[in-house]
Amino acid sequence: MPSFGLTKALTAACVLPLVASTVCDQNDKIPCFTLAGASKIPQVAMGTWGGSYKDCATSDYTCIKQHARWAADDWLHIGGTHIDAANDYRTQTVIAEALQANGVKREDVYLTTKCPGAIGYQATIQCAEDNMQMLGQFGTDGPAYIDLLLVHFPFVIKTECRFNRNDPACKDSPFTVATKEQLQDTWRAMEDLKKTGIVKAIGVSDFNITQLEQTLETAKEPIELHQVEWNPKTHNEEMLKFCKAKNIQLQAWSPLGGAKGSVLSDPKVKAIAAAHNVSTAQVTLRWALQRDVAVVVGTANADHAKGDLDIFGFQLADAEITTINSLGEVTPALAAATACPAGKCLDQATPCLDVANGVCYELNSDDVCDTWTQNCVCPETCADSKPCLQKGGGRVCLPLVGGVCPANTALCSWNTAASIQRQRLLV
Ligand SMILES: NC(=O)c1ccc[n+]([C@@H]2O[C@H](COP(=O)([O-])OP(=O)(O)OC[C@H]3O[C@@H](n4cnc5c(N)ncnc54)[C@H](OP(=O)(O)O)[C@@H]3O)[C@@H](O)[C@H]2O)c1
Repeated sequence: MPSFGLTKALTAACVLPLVASTVCDQNDKIPCFTLAGASKIPQVAMGTWGGSYKDCATSDYTCIKQHARWAADDWLHIGGTHIDAANDYRTQTVIAEALQANGVKREDVYLTTKCPGAIGYQATIQCAEDNMQMLGQFGTDGPAYIDLLLVHFPFVIKTECRFNRNDPACKDSPFTVATKEQLQDTWRAMEDLKKTGIVKAIGVSDFNITQLEQTLETAKEPIELHQVEWNPKTHNEEMLKFCKAKNIQLQAWSPLGGAKGSVLSDPKVKAIAAAHNVSTAQVTLRWALQRDVAVVVGTANADHAKGDLDIFGFQLADAEITTINSLGEVTPALAAATACPAGKCLDQATPCLDVANGVCYELNSDDVCDTWTQNCVCPETCADSKPCLQKGGGRVCLPLVGGVCPANTALCSWNTAASIQRQRLLV
């Protein structure tokens, strides 16, 4: 048996040395938030999810990887320091290529990636190793590290759906909701990864408050960050309050309302943008930061990326923040979801029916609605960014992903081949 001292020495030997990060030092180019574990995170990140790219079909990974490479190249070129990835996006390898092609030193970039759900202890360890490899984090000096690793969602993906979301088994839902034991077992692996130094900070995404509490029940390391949908039209104030109380940094996905959202064309956002002589995207991102919410934006348009990074030269007034807060469609959507009794909706991954308004909403991550419905009656029409109706089978309402749904039309058409045409704008 090794003595206590020797055990300590062995443990220490396994911990990777801290690399001096210049991403968030006193000269940081992009301001940072401080996480509960004391590490720092750049406030703005570039995302690499296929859903960010309007001209890529959902499962066209050639198109998605091409766009993610452009996005990463542009972001690094204009001084962006933080890139967001995930197993689910299948874009890690092109991020690695962009890092290498741009000659970026490891300490000059902040990498976030995500493991696909509450997959348990061993699978999470393996997922971290795979991400290290895909992100190019094994080099001549041995292994480097991942700055932030997240549990992507509180679900487990059905086996068939891991590789093909169009498989019949995924028709109702590609996910099963994770049990408390699965959440806790997965978190234990996240903690061990952090202890080795392979991962500098750990967090989750799309959990509801109950799932955060269940994870915290047995946690030995803090949940440092929670990535959730957050934009002027969808912002869960209860979640922000909870996270602040627990010292969990909130981070916004779809901070502009996503590829099909209506945030950027909102008249009130437009008026505030005009008053500051900035774009509606800049106002929207600034609003999140001033609410203490970090942002992960998505674009493969170099001009847009440049604007999305240039958000530290102006300040919104309290009254403007209040105006933007009030744009939230969160109240009716939440009301519909929480009022959705057992038997009226599927689970968190699927839309809930608001019978009164005849509209199907996606459940917010903290809404619990866990019973398969027999009587989900979708409207015959759909509007931009609202879920699209898929008839037949169990009459399931699916979120509109990769589809185009012109306002108030009965017809939802799907994006066909991607047109990969782009003027590269070098700054
Ligand atoms: N954890 C999760 O479950 C989860 C879920 C979804 C997303 N995410 C992460 O969050 C990232 C962002 O998500 P998202 O793409 O849905 O959100 P988003 O940034 O709110 O929306 C992206 C859309 O905004 C447009 N856009 C970006 N900058 C613009 C600008 N300056 N002016 C006008 N339009 C602009 C882009 O179009 P253009 O191409 O025209 O610029 C793109 O279609 C993803 O890439 C991913 O990394 C995480």
